Amino acid sequence: MPELVLSQTPAHVRQGSNIGQPHTRREGVLKVTGAAKYAADHHPSGMLYAVLAVSGIARGRVAFLDVAAAKAHPGVVEVITPANRPALAQDPDERANLFMFRLDLLQNDRVRYASQPIAIVIAETLEAATQGVALLEPRYETEPARVGLDAATSFVPPVVGPGFPAEAHCGDVEAGLAAATRTISETYETAAQYHNPMEPHAIVAAWDGDKLSIDTPSQGLALAQRRLAGLFGVSPDNIHIRSPFLGGGFGCKGLITGPQVLGAIAARAVDKPVKLVLRREQMYGPVGHRASTRQTLRLGTDHDGKLVALDHHTKTMSSTYDDFLEPASNVSHAVYASAAIATSHEAVRADVGTPMFMRAPGEATGSIALESAIDEMAHACGMDPLAFRLKNYAEVEPISGKPFSSKALRECYRQGAERFGWERRPIAARQMRDRDGLLVGWGVGTAAFPALMFAGNAKAVLRRDGSGVMEIGAHDMGQGAWTALAQIAADALGIDLDQLEFRSGTSDLPDAGIAGGSAHTATAGMAIHNAGADVIARLADLAMKDRRSPLFGAGNAGVIARGGRLFRRDDESRSESYAGILSRAGLAQIEGHGTSAADQAAQSDYAMQAHGAVFAEVKVDPDLGQIRATRVVGAFAAGRIINPRMVESQLCGGMIWGVSFALHEQAVIDSRSGRVMNANLAEYHIPVNADVPSLESILVEEHDPHVNALGIKGVGEIGITGTAGAVANAVWHATGIRVRKFPITLDRLIEPQ
Ligand code: MOS
Repeated sequence: MPELVLSQTPAHVRQGSNIGQPHTRREGVLKVTGAAKYAADHHPSGMLYAVLAVSGIARGRVAFLDVAAAKAHPGVVEVITPANRPALAQDPDERANLFMFRLDLLQNDRVRYASQPIAIVIAETLEAATQGVALLEPRYETEPARVGLDAATSFVPPVVGPGFPAEAHCGDVEAGLAAATRTISETYETAAQYHNPMEPHAIVAAWDGDKLSIDTPSQGLALAQRRLAGLFGVSPDNIHIRSPFLGGGFGCKGLITGPQVLGAIAARAVDKPVKLVLRREQMYGPVGHRASTRQTLRLGTDHDGKLVALDHHTKTMSSTYDDFLEPASNVSHAVYASAAIATSHEAVRADVGTPMFMRAPGEATGSIALESAIDEMAHACGMDPLAFRLKNYAEVEPISGKPFSSKALRECYRQGAERFGWERRPIAARQMRDRDGLLVGWGVGTAAFPALMFAGNAKAVLRRDGSGVMEIGAHDMGQGAWTALAQIAADALGIDLDQLEFRSGTSDLPDAGIAGGSAHTATAGMAIHNAGADVIARLADLAMKDRRSPLFGAGNAGVIARGGRLFRRDDESRSESYAGILSRAGLAQIEGHGTSAADQAAQSDYAMQAHGAVFAEVKVDPDLGQIRATRVVGAFAAGRIINPRMVESQLCGGMIWGVSFALHEQAVIDSRSGRVMNANLAEYHIPVNADVPSLESILVEEHDPHVNALGIKGVGEIGITGTAGAVANAVWHATGIRVRKFPITLDRLIEPQ
């Protein structure tokens, strides 16, 4: 087995002065002054407004729409229904690959879920379009809605998530459980969650012949471009997407959604620019969600408190017409060591929109159940839950046998526990009260998220005046990518940040892949790093071959690029400016290209994960059951930190979602109608400032030389994992009541179920 080296920076990585700096957001001033334009801020001349009519039933067909009444309303220009929707080049129900999901684009009168688009009204004003929708007064042929995890007979899916195995195992779990000294078997339920970025999906679309120009938020410009090109039967080059700023993505803007395509359909139908913005309640259906789950965990330990068997089974749901299955059980592949592990999934089909990626899809859902079960097992063994985790965390991925950089995880446990003050925790529940008599509890959870990388591309230019350009079709959805990527770009080119022009956010730039899977900084960053290296290599080649250059003959010694100069690596007194090299060569500029991809060789030798340990405190009112998360400390090891300010913000954002997962967030579906009953931000609870505890993220130093040359792992999603379980475990520790249905609401503490 290959030995992990944790404290060594690869010699070929050039570390300039920008990477590692806590720079503030480059676009921050634009955002806080309102100068940053989001998709819906655009108003091309002659623009019309489109408003979607959405279904009020979850299953059946639309029997009648009063199109005449809507069209008669002053200002209404057009009403598009399945009867007159312009033809598309591709069937919206076609599913040619894993990243192509079925869309509802008015292909027929069927209703497959509540809030499915059933018509578009286009008008001169937003008010007229909205009134036009009201006048449609749909009549339905309603069929009974199938709701919830017991809606239908379940099936075993071939894959879960985007193509992950639905079942996996190592060892013999049943034998392990039979031989175990102690066992537990418990079932946990997680609620459906719906995406609520501040910015709902919006599009401003304008056609010019066969060319489509759009402003719309997208986490993956090239993917969106290709999908639109296929649907409209034009070349991808004819589709120009601008997506400089996203008001949050969280996965719902990873792939182009039906409502966005409907905006482009509307623009084509009226041959005018059209704006379409989803109303908040329209986010609860056609743009994906996190499906509910019911997870059963069976654990066994030996006399010494060592795990000997871990069985994680998840029941989840998809829509009736497509598959996206929350891969919740698969977290159990990567966190704890056990000689026998089995993971499996089953699914039902219900009358809901197809679930989709939502921040840490699978990991968040699976982690709260796994961390709760681990806590229950620790308690059954009479052990401190942190001591139990220290005994049982995985140093190699049990199923593949590949090693992790798990020494960093041990450091996360140590630093997090020390900062939190964990050693003062009584082992039994319901032992601590604050001065006001509130019950106090402390919980811990292990955080883990795969260190992924996708394919990306970038183009770099160095100019004779010493400035540089980096071009990449990347995405800033609020996570700070533009700032971090520019820091990588400046170092890659060996120039100062103020000499860098960073071009990003449009689909004509090199494809940066999808900003998802917490892989964007690694993917786009490595493409940028390689594009910079390509330019520097060309520049160095010019200098080293030129007798007039101080770098002549540097050859194998190589050069270092820094501050707009190349230095001989073995003798830094010999150097030359970029400007000098380019002028002598008679060049105004020099151009390079870079690509990125996961290192297949490294991936076959190592299991790649970011790790963390999260410690949470909650206070519970013993009479009212009211729960408050009061303090969360997370220690995370995620490889090289490009910008600690952005990273801490990402980790805190993830931890807030973890608190939300444990205590607040749930979509409540009416079992009679199949409609989401709380499709608004008043009743769909997410933490507001008053709900957010004191948060602290500790960045544990980690040099992982295997993930990629820059050593970058992701930080976008890991914060949820660990935190949700830590909060749930703290609630148990405060009250002695183990709630296995999430979110944990106060009624469950007053009347335990
Ligand atoms: Mo994320 S759910 O990979 O945008």
